[in-house]
Amino acid sequence: MSQEKTATGSGQDHLYIFDTTLRDGEQSPGASMTLEEKLRIAETLDALKVDVIEAGFAIASEGDFACVKAVAEQVRGCTVASLARAAPGDIERAAEALVPAIRPRIHTFIATSPLHMKVKLQMQPEAVLEAIHASVSKARGHVDDVEWSAEDATRSDPDFLCRAVEAAIRAGATTVNLPDTVGYATPEEYSAMFADILARVPGADGVILSAHCHNDLGLAVANSLAAVKAGARQVECTINGIGERAGNAAMEEIVMAIRTRGDVVPVTTRVETTEITKASRLVSAVTGFAVQNNKAIVGANAFAHESGIHQDGVLKAAETYEIMTPESVGLNRSSLVMGKHSGRHAFAEKLREMGYTLGENAFQECFKRFKALGDRKKHIYDEDIIALVDDEVATA
Ligand code: KIV
Ligand code: ZN
Repeated sequence: MSQEKTATGSGQDHLYIFDTTLRDGEQSPGASMTLEEKLRIAETLDALKVDVIEAGFAIASEGDFACVKAVAEQVRGCTVASLARAAPGDIERAAEALVPAIRPRIHTFIATSPLHMKVKLQMQPEAVLEAIHASVSKARGHVDDVEWSAEDATRSDPDFLCRAVEAAIRAGATTVNLPDTVGYATPEEYSAMFADILARVPGADGVILSAHCHNDLGLAVANSLAAVKAGARQVECTINGIGERAGNAAMEEIVMAIRTRGDVVPVTTRVETTEITKASRLVSAVTGFAVQNNKAIVGANAFAHESGIHQDGVLKAAETYEIMTPESVGLNRSSLVMGKHSGRHAFAEKLREMGYTLGENAFQECFKRFKALGDRKKHIYDEDIIALVDDEVATA
């Protein structure tokens, strides 16, 4: 994958979409996937045209190694990455699994926050800097495309983080990722961190800076977009936002936010947005994680309208209550949900769709009964409307 920052004909910078559904997404408790399932998702991600697919963590198990290798063999249109800690064995295993990939990437990481270095790694900061140099150099010995991540970047000392990023760049990292590992940052803090790195680290403007956000405070997408505004040109995300704890930034939300609000986040992606709904349903079916009804972009209600005022507006012009079209995410059309809030206009449209033509009196009578039914019943299905109309026709 080209590392050019401006890669589109629109004059806007290209934003690389790094999908980690198969790695960080799979780290959601209960979301582990079989090789066949991973291959089906990888096929969908290829069709979606994400830029990078993180296929797994090759050293984690024989199964993970086999998955990374199989994805590397199958995927032709995207870069395929494997995660590796800053350890020679991890990097060799990642490189081995990625041999069949057309565009392989080794993604190596180490923690840079005082807490992680002291408690988890039990390493002095200077030793961490040496490990960064050694791991990135070793990865560059295997592939040209090396991503380095500063785990827990948002709780790291800013001066030390600058030194760590500089060490990674000097050793040959082509992408530098600054994760909000525990979902702690606010958008202002996260964008300031990117601006600081760009201002203070020599060579930072010559690599792709990447955002990787977790959703512990529900800010993962907002933080990712803030990072892009500050100069990040890759975002790491998952379908439906699955991932460790409260999950990762949701791919569909980032991509559609950029598509819909390019005026405030002026970058473009190459994602085929009409494949989004299909990808969301597949990930939900494979993991068994239901998508909440009101989830942005892919929830069952994302393009559904129940209130009479909204239904009337949408029937007159969809833009009244829709900021993007359902077709743009691969849905056939928005749905008018029939319930007690529905108005005459929507009810008439529903009858027309179902093939009924009623005279004025029959229509008014049916509408009255429909409203009464709505007060008794939460969901009014097509069958209820059929029964209502048949009854009216029979008694008329
Ligand atoms: O959240 C995180 O810090 C990660 C890294 C391994 C990139 O997933
Ligand atoms: Zn993560």
